Amino acid sequence: MAFSKLELFHSLILVLSVVSVQALTWTTTPFNPPAIPLAVRSPYLSAWLAQGAGAALNDVWPTFWTGSVVGWAGFVKVDGKAYSFLGAPNVPGAAFTKATQKSSQFTSTQSIFVLSAGPIDLTITFISPVEPTDLVKQSTPFAYMAVSAASTDGSPHSVQVYSDISAEWVSGDNSLTANWSTTTGNVLTHQVQLATQAVFTENNDHIQYGSAFYSTTNTVGATYQTGADVTVRAQFINNGRLPNTQDTNFRAVSNNWPVFGLAHDLGSVTSSTAPVVFSVGHLRDPAIKYIVAGGATQARSSYFWSQFSSPAALITSFLGDYANALSRARAFDSKVNIDASKISADYASVVALSIRQAMGATEITISKNSDGSFNKNDIIMFMKEISSDGNVNTVDVIFPAWPVLLYTNPALGKYLLEGLFRYQATGQYPNKWSVHDLGSSYPNALGHNDGRDEAMPVEESGNMIIMALSYAQKTGDNSHLTQYSALLDQWTQFLIEDSLIPANQISTDYFAGSLANQTNLAIKGIIGIKAMSQIAQRLGDTSKSANYSSIAASYVSQWQTLAASSSGKHVTLSYGNSASWGLTYNLYADKLLKLNLFPASVYEMQTAWYKTVAQPFGIPLDTRHTYTKSDWEIWTAGIVTDTATRDLFISSVKKWASDGLSTQPFGDWYETTNGQPEGFRARPVVGGHLALLVL
Ligand SMILES: *[C@@H]1O[C@H](CO)[C@@H](O)[C@H](O)[C@H]1NC(C)=O
Ligand SMILES: *[C@@H]1O[C@H](CO)[C@@H](O)[C@H](O)[C@H]1NC(C)=O
Ligand SMILES: *[C@@H]1O[C@H](CO)[C@@H](O)[C@H](O)[C@H]1NC(C)=O
Repeated sequence: MAFSKLELFHSLILVLSVVSVQALTWTTTPFNPPAIPLAVRSPYLSAWLAQGAGAALNDVWPTFWTGSVVGWAGFVKVDGKAYSFLGAPNVPGAAFTKATQKSSQFTSTQSIFVLSAGPIDLTITFISPVEPTDLVKQSTPFAYMAVSAASTDGSPHSVQVYSDISAEWVSGDNSLTANWSTTTGNVLTHQVQLATQAVFTENNDHIQYGSAFYSTTNTVGATYQTGADVTVRAQFINNGRLPNTQDTNFRAVSNNWPVFGLAHDLGSVTSSTAPVVFSVGHLRDPAIKYIVAGGATQARSSYFWSQFSSPAALITSFLGDYANALSRARAFDSKVNIDASKISADYASVVALSIRQAMGATEITISKNSDGSFNKNDIIMFMKEISSDGNVNTVDVIFPAWPVLLYTNPALGKYLLEGLFRYQATGQYPNKWSVHDLGSSYPNALGHNDGRDEAMPVEESGNMIIMALSYAQKTGDNSHLTQYSALLDQWTQFLIEDSLIPANQISTDYFAGSLANQTNLAIKGIIGIKAMSQIAQRLGDTSKSANYSSIAASYVSQWQTLAASSSGKHVTLSYGNSASWGLTYNLYADKLLKLNLFPASVYEMQTAWYKTVAQPFGIPLDTRHTYTKSDWEIWTAGIVTDTATRDLFISSVKKWASDGLSTQPFGDWYETTNGQPEGFRARPVVGGHLALLVL
């Protein structure tokens, strides 16, 4: 029997995949994740280094969260010998070798690599700042790459550093024509964009308007060049510098791949050098189209434009701020690490991997006054439902992510809810429950005036009320509660009708299917009613508060009967199906809001049960499937009554995140039996991994 070519090919793949799971040849701290964030600051500035079982910084190209390449290359010359340190460039006719990776590390805001290039160690630090209390900085979609060199043999060595980006940063279709320009001065900046701009339009999740910028400070010996990848890279490899020339033959992204190169001469290096700093960013204006009263729309701009009149001014400020940004990043990383390490080292590592991803799905916007000036009092934050369907401000995506907002700055939560409240207060959304999202397709927040959004009635109504109270509790600011009390009450009326006996509907876990009488959904609705009782209390309506409180209490006791399995050992997934069970993660809101609504016996029963049904990679979401959700694992860790069970949930998520079976940015949906990824990646719901930090 002969092997067909295809069979031989398959055996080859098998051999390769066996080889690829061998031990890494470098150290990883705190662990090797599915993908390492490189520049992750907005839905459109999202560059990662795919890992799987492990890939060095110079083994593969950086990729957009979708997996498509975003060209980003780096070379260093040491005593005339060239080494690649970033990306996987092929440069025919130019001699270089790969620098050898010694370590990789991630913190909440930084990814740090050390690669040795002959007698020099290069440290490459990627910082995607998280600046939750500075709206100008948080809304700036730029990231840093800093490169420093140190001699490892005590002798001086001549060192030059080079990096470029390709035009893949500005399009989801590489056959489209780009154009570009370079500006010099105190800063060298390459700007690149599509020649035909398509405002508010995505292609393969890339935005099709605005520009990418690659910049560095124009210190002595800094040089630049634009041109074909092989030309520009060979120029540096052969000469250690660039000729300060521009290729103005504008063409398609993939037509002789135009790249935008920058180089520095570090001179003679002995001890560690100060870093040379590059910034990469993607700007567009306006950022979001948002529905206002009467079906009209408003073009909203990123907040930072209120401070900067041009991209050049923003970039000069961003590069000039590097040293301070680094110390702020270190302080933030350290605070998160200290707080999360109080739970466990595993927990601290999962949290560190989650923060840039969660924040990187958001954008902070403002509108313009009639005179064209920016109105900094009109702030709305937007979040893209990355990977699952691209909706704008999906309520049941904001909800799982909520802990990262509460932890970093609750005001960001208010800005996220504002757009949803304001739209529904215009009266254009026709349903009595809360809308699912602000628009089907980011960055178009056009509402759902036909009422035909993806209906999750109990889910979203409960979520909105719970988040509104949570924000008010955390800050003492009752302004949303006052302004939108009619909507909150309307949603509560719906919960009173539909949450004890929830109709057949989907929950946020829509992929698991729709179901009537979902026990966990009922928990959410009942907590929503109790939360509205506290909201009424805050607004001074004591009789409404007492009424809703007694309805919630009565529902809890009825729920206990409806939800019990005949064994008495767990609550069911849906009423009457004694063999079924699921993660009752919605109890987390009872803890978060300190309502003490559900009796301790429920928490104790669920804790005891979960210990008995753990799979190798965690507790399944429910009995319909063996997959689970990492956000709900951590939320459930927040409701169990003993630390061993809490740590079982946490270590399962860490085990999944470090198992080497995924190359995609942190996926929240995975298989508990074997640790394989399911369909989601890079979603902001990993902000829910901070759930234990805000209880
Ligand atoms: C590139 O194209 C844009 C959009 O069509 C245009 O506004 C800009 O002037 C062009 N830039 C260059 C350098 O040709
Ligand atoms: C939901 O539960 C209630 C209470 O047990 C029951 O009357 C009703 O038939 C159930 N609905 C469905 C669709 O199973
Ligand atoms: C309590 O609220 C429910 C639902 O809005 C309402 O039907 C009922 O009349 C209220 N009861 C009192 C005593 O206000």
